[in-house]
Amino acid sequence: MGFGKLGQAVTAREVFDLVRDDLERVEKEISRESVASVDAITAIGQYLQEAGGKRLRPSLLLLSSKLIGDGGESAIRLGAVVEMIHAATLVHDDVIDAAETRRGRPSANMQWGNHTCVLGGDWLYMQAFQMALRERNFHILDLLIGLTQMMVEGELIQLERIGRIDVTEADCMELEDRKTACLFSVCARLGGLVAGADSATEERLGEYAWNLGMAFQLVDDILDFTAREQTLGKPVGGDLREGKVTLPLVYALERATAEERLSVERVLVDRHYENVPFAQILALVENHQGIERVRERAQAFTDKARQLIAEFPESPYQRALCGITELVTERDH
Ligand code: IPE
Ligand code: IPE
Ligand code: MG
Ligand code: MG
Repeated sequence: MGFGKLGQAVTAREVFDLVRDDLERVEKEISRESVASVDAITAIGQYLQEAGGKRLRPSLLLLSSKLIGDGGESAIRLGAVVEMIHAATLVHDDVIDAAETRRGRPSANMQWGNHTCVLGGDWLYMQAFQMALRERNFHILDLLIGLTQMMVEGELIQLERIGRIDVTEADCMELEDRKTACLFSVCARLGGLVAGADSATEERLGEYAWNLGMAFQLVDDILDFTAREQTLGKPVGGDLREGKVTLPLVYALERATAEERLSVERVLVDRHYENVPFAQILALVENHQGIERVRERAQAFTDKARQLIAEFPESPYQRALCGITELVTERDH
């Protein structure tokens, strides 16, 4: 399928240049709104913000808004809201996963401990909702609350599956949706909504971003096997070490020998790579086309996302939203 100008490669720089000024305003908004009367909470918020992060979710919201028209102050505020919700999920997630690294430095739970981080995450969620409330729009709150419940349920479902080898493809897809795709979808919908999109357009934007999010999370599962820790900013091989069987491994296990299966079970029990080295697991996943097959699945989602965005009128924003699909599949962190 030809996409005309849409077919041309877009660099990350070109994409982010389009929203650079607005992203700066989003950062200021996050800083201003992350100040609590308790120092530890302000410090956690600041720590996470300073550590970087790709700011993909606010970028998606801002680009979607500009694709439709002008979301003005509302787009800036909601850009901050979605990044703060994302930050809250990361703070809680690192507690749940007992993670040691996030965004290339010690995770917040390592710095402040679990108790403070649970409360810090709660505060961040509530602050984000309070900011969203200023829009005085029930539809926005509906989207954000439904989304947060989807994500929390996702973490619970994942928790129930920890240590299990009998995970299916459908199980994995459900988690990709809950962890990432639903938030991506809400970002694009909110962007469209504040720029005056009608409900059908808002839904199409949401569908585009949902497909993008599915691809993004599938690539995340691949990177957990193939990336270098320094580039990724968190340890490689972490999923299996945390007792999580993700899609590359699910596909590989379909073709694995009984002995190979046992080696995976060993890591699931041990929760370390001292008896079975990570290199052995990686070889197994690669030899049985686990990575290759997930890459194909991710590609199918980005193809769909491109198809959906191609239906919108041509503009630099449309080109950027199309370009993001390449960036997501080609990314190394
Ligand atoms: C991390 O998301 C959590 C996942 C959904 C995998 P990102 O990879 O977008 O994290 P940052 O914001 O860039 O650090
Ligand atoms: C990502 O979950 C956090 C959420 C979106 C809730 P993971 O545990 O799979 O991701 P990382 O590896 O910690 O970023
Ligand atoms: Mg985690
Ligand atoms: Mg997790």
